[in-house]
Amino acid sequence: MIRAKTYNFHSLTGFNPDLIKNHYKIYTKYINDLNKIWNTNYTPYFKADNFINPYMHNLKLEEIYSINGIKLHELYFENLTGKNTIPYGPILNEIEKQFSSYENFISSLSEVALSMKGWVTLYIDSLDSRLHLFGSDFHDTSAILSSHKLLVLDVHNHSYYNQDKKEYLGNFINNLDWKVLNNRFKFYLLKTRVKRQ
Ligand SMILES: [Fe+2]
Repeated sequence: MIRAKTYNFHSLTGFNPDLIKNHYKIYTKYINDLNKIWNTNYTPYFKADNFINPYMHNLKLEEIYSINGIKLHELYFENLTGKNTIPYGPILNEIEKQFSSYENFISSLSEVALSMKGWVTLYIDSLDSRLHLFGSDFHDTSAILSSHKLLVLDVHNHSYYNQDKKEYLGNFINNLDWKVLNNRFKFYLLKTRVKRQ
């Protein structure tokens, strides 16, 4: 059985406390859903080569939906603390190197965010070891394999309900925890160094 992680939202500025509490509840629902799925007692009755069981099909899709919903929300809440909000460190250097400037990065991040309905993530991709901004509308599609997430931004309507999306983006950027981003980047560097040895 897995349990919901807890987060302290007290340092956030520009976020309605009720909205963030409701957002946290959405995350806990995914935890409950996954616990139900992982505790399902199911006896397979596979009989023929071309047998497709719709129950199994739905179960597996719901499993991915819940797992991604949990992981993405945890990464989102973790990098949204309202602390360590001044950009700094190796991750900022890498961003400036690859996006020309911090301002260009924020423009690209905002443009992707405004064009998507689900998630925006800054990844380092294992194909080229470079930073990429990915967008998706749902969390059970567009999953990128072997990519390391550095920044996760939720752009579902429930993240900014009744608020202007651009205003929400500004608040997200102002509350972004650069210590968390640097730790994720350092972890990637450590992981890839170990791999190469
Ligand atoms: Fe969400």
